[in-house]
Amino acid sequence: MTVKTAVIGLGFIGMVHIEALKRLNGVEVVAVMGSTAEKTKRKAKELGISKCFSDYLTLLKDPDIEAVHICTPNHMHYEMAKKALLAGKHVICEKPLTISIEEAEDLNKLATSSELIHAVCFNIRYYPMLQQLKEMIRQGELGRIYAVNGSYLQDWLLFDSDYNWRVESAYSGKSRAVADVGSHWMDLLESVTGLGITEVMADFSTVHKTRKKPLEAAETYAAIVNSEASRYQEVPIDTEDYANILFRMGNGVRGSFTVSQVHAGRKNRLYIEIAGTRQSASFDSEHPNYLWIGNRDGNNQVMIKDTSLLHPEARRYADYPGGHNEGYPDTFKQLFKDIYHAMASNEYRDGISYPSFTDGLREQTLCESINKSQHERKWIAVL
Ligand SMILES: NC(=O)c1ccc[n+]([C@@H]2O[C@H](COP(=O)([O-])OP(=O)(O)OC[C@H]3O[C@@H](n4cnc5c(N)ncnc54)[C@H](O)[C@@H]3O)[C@@H](O)[C@H]2O)c1
Repeated sequence: MTVKTAVIGLGFIGMVHIEALKRLNGVEVVAVMGSTAEKTKRKAKELGISKCFSDYLTLLKDPDIEAVHICTPNHMHYEMAKKALLAGKHVICEKPLTISIEEAEDLNKLATSSELIHAVCFNIRYYPMLQQLKEMIRQGELGRIYAVNGSYLQDWLLFDSDYNWRVESAYSGKSRAVADVGSHWMDLLESVTGLGITEVMADFSTVHKTRKKPLEAAETYAAIVNSEASRYQEVPIDTEDYANILFRMGNGVRGSFTVSQVHAGRKNRLYIEIAGTRQSASFDSEHPNYLWIGNRDGNNQVMIKDTSLLHPEARRYADYPGGHNEGYPDTFKQLFKDIYHAMASNEYRDGISYPSFTDGLREQTLCESINKSQHERKWIAVL
């Protein structure tokens, strides 16, 4: 059986979705929709995709389309996902699921009471070495986990002439760096340790209080805008560039992480380090085929991804043999493989292996608790 799917939003991540889907069996991208008819037509032609739509409500009426990928800016996710579920389509939505907790609760309620697949693209979980780490923790190899630290650092918004829809809260939601990349870090943390964050204490900083907004919008990661040459308007910024979060988890685990979109030289670096009573372990997404293992009473180790040496639970997410690197695009392929397998086999009724709208709601809850802590300048219990 081949599931016919559509992708809405043809910017940076929409193209990543299409490329990953084209690498899979059992799914075919039959339709696309971008923000303008001309762009949609051009991209559909380049990609060999037959149907183009210029409004998503018409797309959702197409009986051929069984699933939709929502790859538009954050503020559009809620309406698009809701209408898609109501039209009986499976929904694969980009993170963050919504820009408010009320929207996330509403979507989660609708999705979980349906027979439809609902997924949120927390793709980071799908690096094979992180699946390996998860299994090592589950099997007690690190001992009792007691502390975690890490960061998610980027530099693409370092200059005040760097601009993207994300810097405006109307499009990204109240928080930017935390919701945009911190949500990935927290989803990974909870998924890899199997423990929940129970309390948070946050400190935000907006490094650029104003930015130069180009009069013509640019896509994510488009070439850096030259403020001297381009036409722009100076606008106030109401979202954070940088944040530090202290947190507590179940089982007395303590931790902290930093997120930044203004950290020169760190292009897109997720780092996590987990300390246990027997060993510690760390992962750096800019070197994703390695896992560092720290020992107190022996030499430290660096484990290289070798499919034959991974725990079986992690091996299913590594498609290439040792020495053949797997990276960011492969995480989407592995995530979609899980989702479309569930769709084809109806296994989703028996339990979910991929991040669902419930995980999307969880991240929204964590982000709102972090925002509250920033505003009230105190520890906040995560409900
Ligand atoms: N999982 C990840 O690793 C990851 C990475 C990047 C982005 N994202 C998420 O993906 C979403 C999109 O981010 P992006 O970086 O691709 O942004 P982007 O600006 O590069 O692309 C967004 C696209 O949506 C289009 N669009 C706007 N309104 C539309 C409409 N009404 N109908 C159809 N298309 C419309 C825009 O023209 C643009 O091409 C965001 O929610 C973001 O958080 C996730």
